[in-house]
Amino acid sequence: MDLTPLKIVNVVGGRPNFPKMAPLLDAMAKVPRIQPRLVHTGQHYDYEMSRVFFEDLAIPEPDFFLGVGSGSHAQQTARVMVEFEKVLDREQPDLVVVVGDVNSTLACALVAAKLLVPVAHVEAGLRSFDRSMPEEINRTLTDHLSDYLFTPSKDGDENLRREGIPPERVHLVGNVMIDTLRRYEEAARAKRAAAAYGLAPRGYALLTLHRPSNVDNPAVFSRILDGLEPILQRLPILFPVHPRSRQRIATFGLESRIAALPTLRLCEPLGYITFLSLMMDARLVLTDSGGIQEETTALGVPCLTLRENTERPATVTLGTNTVVGTSPDRIRAEAIRLLAGDAPAGSLPPLWDGRTGPRIVEVLARHLHSPERSVERS
Ligand code: UD1
Repeated sequence: MDLTPLKIVNVVGGRPNFPKMAPLLDAMAKVPRIQPRLVHTGQHYDYEMSRVFFEDLAIPEPDFFLGVGSGSHAQQTARVMVEFEKVLDREQPDLVVVVGDVNSTLACALVAAKLLVPVAHVEAGLRSFDRSMPEEINRTLTDHLSDYLFTPSKDGDENLRREGIPPERVHLVGNVMIDTLRRYEEAARAKRAAAAYGLAPRGYALLTLHRPSNVDNPAVFSRILDGLEPILQRLPILFPVHPRSRQRIATFGLESRIAALPTLRLCEPLGYITFLSLMMDARLVLTDSGGIQEETTALGVPCLTLRENTERPATVTLGTNTVVGTSPDRIRAEAIRLLAGDAPAGSLPPLWDGRTGPRIVEVLARHLHSPERSVERS
């Protein structure tokens, strides 16, 4: 048994990173020779966007908080890079682990690769083939900087193969976020969050919207509201509002339009367990998030994705997801079809079994021991 200590610097920055990192830290804590460090870049900083996830998911306090905050893509990415380089200089880790596709993911992968620190990317290989999404750029470049690419589904392996990534770097391990979902499913069920909002199980829809392509353009945002109207005549929709969308509603003067839709109920962004509880009891979820497409598939709840494409095709081919775009007619038609009971039954994609975190850590512990590694880096 190899007992050489392994120092692993793990990175989180934004809300979708937290449920992906929690199971990895849990699995690392069970391997005595792994010395994990946690870096929070501070890309997200509001209580509802960050702290509540640490509390809900029992994530340990970060060892380093970079406090980068918001800004343009270049500003945010650059600030993360400058601060993260200092952490790596100080820590001299054996590996950096990044998850997902936010700006912090790419920034830290780039810094590590330039310092010749091996990079592991969890949730590798996803492609929407839409370069207008900042996340598509982040995930593609991160994959090409990474030494260990952990994919959630076979389509990821296929995309990476097509891009010329050597297959020995790619490990199909399943979806790490589903580890978190399974772990907190009971707590979420017990919470019965719908009641706190005066909603009955299966008597409401849940909406999230924050993609720049949807909320930064007043015409598109407005079209989506048009598409919701016929749904709102049949059942209330609860809409936890992301800070970006909250700002755009104010800037575009959409408050009165929304106020005229009394069954569209806005609330603050929610913590993990509350939101999971609301998802599992929803009749229908409408979203432009990536992770929610996967969580609804894992829960067997119908999901309408308000985007023109998805980087998570397994949720459509195997799961409960339908990509409907943002045309009001299409949103209306698909929602009515679902509400009439014509919902995809859905099945769980392979390896979305709640055991992805340990699989990833097992691969890392097995590979990160070769003596030539120290030679490579010297
Ligand atoms: C980021 C990610 C996106 C992810 C989303 C989840 C990138 C490119 N995008 O988008 O992939 O799906 O997080 O939330 O990394 N703000 C606050 N409080 C916060 C954070 C942000 O008020 O805690 C406001 C700021 O005004 C900021 C805006 O929201 O300018 C957008 O935040 P930003 O981190 O730039 O991108 P997101 O839209 O959150």
